[in-house]
Amino acid sequence: MKKVLVIYFTQTGQLHRAVGATLRNFDSDPAIKLDFERVEPKTPFPFPWTYMQFFDAFPETVQGIPCELHPAKFNPQENYDLIIIAYQPWFLSVSRPVDSFLQSTEAAKLLKGKPVITILACRNMWLNAQEKMKMHLKRLDAKLVGNITFVDRASNLVSLVTVLAFALGGEQGRYLGIFPKYGVSDEELKNSAWKFGDTILESLRNGNFEGLQQKLITLGAINIKPNLMIMEGRGKVLFPLYANFIMKKGRANSNERRTRVRIFGIVLPTAIFLLSPIIAILSRLLPLLFPKRTQEEITYFSGTDLR
Ligand SMILES: Cc1cc2nc3c(=O)[nH]c(=O)nc-3n(C[C@H](O)[C@H](O)[C@H](O)COP(=O)(O)O)c2cc1C
Repeated sequence: MKKVLVIYFTQTGQLHRAVGATLRNFDSDPAIKLDFERVEPKTPFPFPWTYMQFFDAFPETVQGIPCELHPAKFNPQENYDLIIIAYQPWFLSVSRPVDSFLQSTEAAKLLKGKPVITILACRNMWLNAQEKMKMHLKRLDAKLVGNITFVDRASNLVSLVTVLAFALGGEQGRYLGIFPKYGVSDEELKNSAWKFGDTILESLRNGNFEGLQQKLITLGAINIKPNLMIMEGRGKVLFPLYANFIMKKGRANSNERRTRVRIFGIVLPTAIFLLSPIIAILSRLLPLLFPKRTQEEITYFSGTDLR
């Protein structure tokens, strides 16, 4: 019997659907025991978010400040063969509930020495969050053996509009009737996700995860676009600086920091809108000017190692 625990958090269920589609064939195998643990913040995060709630969540998320969680319900005595961590990036960081779980004593006991696979369902910017995840796993002495990412296939500017309409307006369909529906496509989940899961099953049955990530990459489990890689590089440097700037003014949701939060809420989408076209051009040039370096970066982010 192989025992698998899925640790996850989801607001609208998108990530839960992605996990279900990936692990579709786990249930039919009597030799696999699959447990789920939903991370539960004591103060639930809102959905839809108000404008202020959304941008006020930025500093603590980026700085990895844990929120309080309800105690986990999984059996700490169970010796799991594989842990799957399903999470979404928030502001290029691990979503706050999952990040908080990774800082708990329960996580330290659960993950020590264990193979871990991460599954993400998000807009399209996950590289920096996954680097933070790799750091957590290294600290916890766990071994990342696989990563699967599901992203919104629309262009960066279109998905910026639809994710904001979705998160702030609760829009689950086609915004204004003209934009595509936000998120990971149901077709993709139905048609490809199970292939990733079946590859995981094979490694799990053999008790050997060597080479798993390479197989997942070949199946199309990783989506990296050079323009977003460049954009994330900028955000990674600037976000912690602005997060500190807001936090210096006051605690989460306090009146003292409202002005700085509000400015961030205007500057961030504006910067993405203005920079996107420039970076799109740059990202076409870079692979021509520096083909080796660009390919090295893509290979690195596709893998499970931490540099
Ligand atoms: C506060 C917040 C910040 C987000 N930041 C990012 C981000 O940096 N990159 C990204 O690709 N998606 C981002 N998203 C979108 C989420 O990754 C995800 O697609 C969305 O929250 C729906 O997932 P869920 O219903 O499973 O929680 C963000 C969402 C929220 C709520």
